[in-house]
Amino acid sequence: MHTDTSPTLLITGGAGFIGSHLATELLQHGYHVRILDNLSPQVHGPERHRPGHLDRRAEVFVGDIRDPHSVQETLDGVDAVIHLAAVVGERPSMYRIEKYMSVNTTGTAVLLEALLDHPIERLVVASSSAVYGEGLYCSYNGTTYPKIRRSLHQAVRGDWEPRSPDGEVIYPLPTPETKEVSPLSVYAISKYDQEEMCRMIGEAYGIPTTILRLFNVYGPHQRYANPYSGMLTEYASRLLQDLPVRLFEDGYQQRDFVSVYDVARAFRLALESPGAAGGTFNIGSGRPYTFRTAATLLATITRRQHLAPEVTETGRVGDIRHCIADISRAWEVLGYTPQVPLEAGLLELAAWVETEIARRQPVASPINVPASSRLRV
Ligand SMILES: NC(=O)c1ccc[n+]([C@@H]2O[C@H](COP(=O)([O-])OP(=O)(O)OC[C@H]3O[C@@H](n4cnc5c(N)ncnc54)[C@H](O)[C@@H]3O)[C@@H](O)[C@H]2O)c1
Repeated sequence: MHTDTSPTLLITGGAGFIGSHLATELLQHGYHVRILDNLSPQVHGPERHRPGHLDRRAEVFVGDIRDPHSVQETLDGVDAVIHLAAVVGERPSMYRIEKYMSVNTTGTAVLLEALLDHPIERLVVASSSAVYGEGLYCSYNGTTYPKIRRSLHQAVRGDWEPRSPDGEVIYPLPTPETKEVSPLSVYAISKYDQEEMCRMIGEAYGIPTTILRLFNVYGPHQRYANPYSGMLTEYASRLLQDLPVRLFEDGYQQRDFVSVYDVARAFRLALESPGAAGGTFNIGSGRPYTFRTAATLLATITRRQHLAPEVTETGRVGDIRHCIADISRAWEVLGYTPQVPLEAGLLELAAWVETEIARRQPVASPINVPASSRLRV
């Protein structure tokens, strides 16, 4: 329920996949929600419509996170900020280097400078499991390996599992926040930059700051190209069009797929938990799933079990093998427990993809984006 005394929260990048679900979660819990988003064409298409599924009660300002005037304007009367605005994806960051560093790193710098003039009660930042590179591994004898990289030679031989420096096969463990970071892309570097800047400025100026390292978030309204779990959307889409799913390597890579509803709840807990200030938390499901398992679940859900996946047995430079979240810190400090099992989440995802395929056109309400890029809609 809204009251005049309800806090006003600003979500940067709030018109995107996670932001739109988060807006609903926060509105349902009585907050006023304001969004700053440039409705980037890569995410929202060339027409840059306000997404039709975005809750009408959310106040949207169209503007760029790198534009100090837009940021200052949207911060007026804001009590807390959730910073999601970013260009997302590891592979394109390796050739669109300036764009990633500009939006993610400089954009965060602009936000932090603006916050010096607008005291807030909490800043929550969306970081990523990408900062870890590979997850944590151990050998049979219990030695742990926090900074593993697969060699190109391994990929050429189709030898997919990571190995210790002695050539021994090693095994994935849940990855805690204490694992050494090891960014493997410009995107991952920019996410770690965001973390470090927000921690430092938060401490220096007394802005209570919380970092959430999100794992592979999936759910309705995730665009196919989203590099984290867009593959689940793509798998469902291919199956529903009677095409087999394509799996890279041997399909036994493990990921931590987490429902966007659990992630939205985690952001709210990070805003509301007194102990969250100054903390960094993994947000995942805590459960390992292989790509093969996810593809099989979707084939069952879509009744396409007869379509065996195409296993390419080819790798892609920069892909990691396994990374699963240790979520015990988020459980202890935030009271976070994932509530959506993968099976239920995929059922809803497949139903949404089916509707999208049938409709072939996104529901959106048109708005005008002026040259000044500072329009409230
Ligand atoms: N989706 C995941 O699985 C995942 C995992 C880890 C971290 N994250 C992080 O979560 C955040 C949200 O990710 P998402 O999946 O919702 O991505 P998304 O691409 O759907 O949303 C990002 C939003 O930011 C906006 N944006 C882009 N550039 C902007 C700019 N210059 N100024 C203002 N707005 C801008 C886009 O228009 C978009 O609405 C990102 O910071 C991302 O790094 C996502």
